[in-house]
Amino acid sequence: MTKEIIGKAKANQAIADTKKALDDIERDLASGTRAYVLGPYLSPRAQLKSGQDADRSPAATRAMEARLAEAVGLAAAIDLTVAGTGIAQLQALRPSTYLGKGKVEEIEALIAEGEIKLVIVDAPLSPIQQRNLEKAWKCKVIDRTGLILEIFGRRARTKEGALQVELAHLNYQKSRLVRSWTHLERQRGGFGFLGGPGETQIEADRRQIQERVAKIERDLETVVRTRGLHRKSRTKVPYPVVALVGYTNAGKSTLFNRLAGADVFAKDLLFATLDPTARAIRLPHGHKVILTDTVGFISDLPTMLVAAFRATLEDVVEADVILHVRDVAHEDTEAQSADVEAILRDLGVTGAKADPETGAAAALPTPLIEVWNKADLLSSHVHHQLAAVAANRPADERPALVSALTGEGIPKLLARVEDRLARDASNYLITLDPTDGAGLAWLYTQGEVLERREDAKGRILAMIRVPPQRKDKVLQRFPAAKAR
Ligand code: GTP
Repeated sequence: MTKEIIGKAKANQAIADTKKALDDIERDLASGTRAYVLGPYLSPRAQLKSGQDADRSPAATRAMEARLAEAVGLAAAIDLTVAGTGIAQLQALRPSTYLGKGKVEEIEALIAEGEIKLVIVDAPLSPIQQRNLEKAWKCKVIDRTGLILEIFGRRARTKEGALQVELAHLNYQKSRLVRSWTHLERQRGGFGFLGGPGETQIEADRRQIQERVAKIERDLETVVRTRGLHRKSRTKVPYPVVALVGYTNAGKSTLFNRLAGADVFAKDLLFATLDPTARAIRLPHGHKVILTDTVGFISDLPTMLVAAFRATLEDVVEADVILHVRDVAHEDTEAQSADVEAILRDLGVTGAKADPETGAAAALPTPLIEVWNKADLLSSHVHHQLAAVAANRPADERPALVSALTGEGIPKLLARVEDRLARDASNYLITLDPTDGAGLAWLYTQGEVLERREDAKGRILAMIRVPPQRKDKVLQRFPAAKAR
């Protein structure tokens, strides 16, 4: 028994060490690593052979370029320096290296020339293909899943998010752990757990990972079970939260920077400095909100990453207003929008959806404003058309046609956000006993305290603006609150 416990402790320590070592490697790699992004896509002829319909249209070529552009965007999202990119049109998939021999050699030369330290292959590589390519190119290779995992890992902020991403990571590494990392071991002089690539060691490593997977799955169950409770007791930020969601490359970060750059009033707020994806900003009429950016949606998300992706969107569940940023100049804009809407519905933030556990009706849906971005890229004809379509929608659902790049339409968008918040929020005058410091502190976490003074008896009078989702909670604690 004791022996078993010691064995377990050792295994856990080994896993912790490994995780740390891998984290170190990932950090090293991220800081400006020169990367090459390769899009190996099946040529039209090869698609025919593999039973797919061949698509030789210019749109198909554009689609390949768009896929590569998305992969480059993802690489940039983890601060890699993209030193080169290329599309390889494949006639067939080669089992050992995915790419043909000539292509492997061609890229080998590019790597040496460009001092590339990392190649991102925008395809699902098998562990063996990954290892063979690493050997041939003498540098680290990651595939699409690896890249996306890396991004999720950096953006997961909730416990569930972190667990889901780690779970996906472990499952992904289970098959590749020892062999694919060997060159890195060599570089770093090796570290216990990853070293000694004997078969017994590999088996032992796999078992340890499996144990960790089982533990995470148990933890996740607990987190999911208690999630509703956490949400209800939310006491995170004093202002309404406005969350940006949308497809990768839709322009969320550009919009975020434009909005945040306009007026960052609280640089010293703890979360604003710690978290680069949240900022406190002031709207035109003085309402303060927290703006948060989220991980972008990605086309063809590998199935093993779907749960992890959803978990990184937990912020959205907490939002008071959602801004759905769309690239309306993109040819797939409608399909992208449908994807985003489906996931938001699944998360239960838009549309009425019953709670799957209790069967109770969900809380009020979160107000959503569509932001039709990249208006500057539209021809004047299409621009006019879209503006007319937007103007014809009911005020509640009216999209904002903007350009995050030029600033067009931004004041209108801000006014719309402010309208939504003001319309839905309620003001209450609350009287507190002078000794109720805790009650006052709590109020500050539930809404915006607009005014605070003492009456003749020394009691505290607080005027607070409360978003609709938190009205009930405030009235429960202060039943004598007077609506104003
Ligand atoms: P992820 O972080 O990958 O989710 O992408 P994102 O949605 O944050 O997109 P990002 O802001 O990084 O913008 C993607 C690209 O679109 C960048 O090259 C931007 O310069 C460009 N872009 C963003 N907004 C506009 C716009 O209004 N007009 C034009 N022409 N380009 C824009």
